[in-house]
Amino acid sequence: MKHCKFFLVAVATIAGLAALIAPVPGHANGQSAAPYVTEIPQGYRGWKWISSAHEAGKLNSLGAVLGNDIAFNAFRDGKLPYPDGTIIAALHYQNVPSDENNKIFGQVQSFVPGAPTNIQFMVKDSTKYAATGGWGFGHFQDGKPADAAFMKPCFPCHEKAKATDLVFTRYAP
Ligand code: HEC
Repeated sequence: MKHCKFFLVAVATIAGLAALIAPVPGHANGQSAAPYVTEIPQGYRGWKWISSAHEAGKLNSLGAVLGNDIAFNAFRDGKLPYPDGTIIAALHYQNVPSDENNKIFGQVQSFVPGAPTNIQFMVKDSTKYAATGGWGFGHFQDGKPADAAFMKPCFPCHEKAKATDLVFTRYAP
């Protein structure tokens, strides 16, 4: 009987420990994934333009980089590091020739944003996103956030822009 009690206690202890070290649902391998942005920041479409970028190759996209007021002021004044509260939005579209405009020119020379492809965000919160250089990365397609696996390469690549606080874009005057 004594043995039996000991056995039960042992089982309960092991079960308790197992529950403690068990992987958190949604976090692969039990390692908690770095937090990232899963909600589209409000009002981003009305923010100020900072610059644009065209990516060639397979992407063939046009991008507009917008920033909230904190972002815009920091970009314009060349302030580094970007203060908490900075939010940068990169709106991406297919890069398509404009038939309408090209008719006017008489040749293919006008390219405009086609269908939206995705929207990416960088949100500065040095506490919440400490694991990724103080930036929360966000990627949305059709309004839906990407999963944790998709978000993994964002930080390692943006880290290459360490000298400018992980931000590649320069303010276009
Ligand atoms: C292989 C490198 C690389 C990866 C991976 C990458 N980016 Fe970028 N990102 C860039 C470059 C370079 C730019 C500059 C603009 C451009 O060329 O499109 C940029 C621009 C941005 C911008 C505008 C601010 C800035 O830094 O210029 C945001 C926001 C952004 N990326 C978010 C993301 C998110 C979110 C992910 C992950 C889903 C991601 N990026 C993955 C290289 C990368």
